[in-house]
Amino acid sequence: MAGNSAQELQAARARLARFVTGQTAERVFTQPTGHPSGPTGFCYCDGGLHRALSLYLRAAAWEWVLRLPCNRPRIWYLRRCGVQIGAEVHLSPGVWIDPMFPRLLTIEERVFVGTGVKIAMHEFRINEFRAGKVLIRPEAVIGAFAVIGCGVEIGARATVAAGAVVGRDVPPGTTAIGNPARIIRKQCMPS
Ligand SMILES: CC(C)(COP(=O)(O)OP(=O)(O)OC[C@H]1O[C@@H](n2cnc3c(N)ncnc32)[C@H](O)[C@@H]1OP(=O)(O)O)[C@@H](O)C(=O)NCCC(=O)NCCS
Repeated sequence: MAGNSAQELQAARARLARFVTGQTAERVFTQPTGHPSGPTGFCYCDGGLHRALSLYLRAAAWEWVLRLPCNRPRIWYLRRCGVQIGAEVHLSPGVWIDPMFPRLLTIEERVFVGTGVKIAMHEFRINEFRAGKVLIRPEAVIGAFAVIGCGVEIGARATVAAGAVVGRDVPPGTTAIGNPARIIRKQCMPS
């Protein structure tokens, strides 16, 4: 499929800006594009040197902060960049969080995120760009090296197993394992 005309791209970018700033209700933004090996208009590197540099600098700082041994600076920095993080959240060192759309991630209170977890809020498909809100509900536990895809909600007190690849919602109080993740059991939910 051919890429977007300049006019279509401008309209789609305006729609994306409304989506990212929470002015629209949908959970996932999609826009047909050309193949992502070429410019799609949605990568920061398509928007000129200034735009590309701003992402690269943020990504470099982000990577460094997320490797620090203490939790507090990680939480502080992510909040400053626009990630919504509740109280008593623990992010282990070495978590990777998509630096392109920090405002699309919400981590509610008392969530634990294991080391090496990757959380993506955008993806390029063969002919489509997607950005999606990721919502991690209270007291969820995300096991080490799990991958959470864009547009996914992890329910309250749900567990994601180490190494699981999650592309669909995980209902509250359940455990998701494997690649692609499947639900293995429902836990007892305290009232
Ligand atoms: C998912 C998890 C919570 C399950 O623990 P559990 O309740 O003790 O479950 P079990 O060990 O009885 O395993 C249940 C089944 O799931 C499978 N399983 C467990 N963990 C798995 C994993 N990470 N990936 C794939 N399968 C897994 C087991 O092989 C077993 O399969 P079976 O029923 O066919 O024999 C645990 O294995 C896990 O991944 N915890 C995360 C630990 C972690 O990453 N902590 C963060 C460190 S920073």
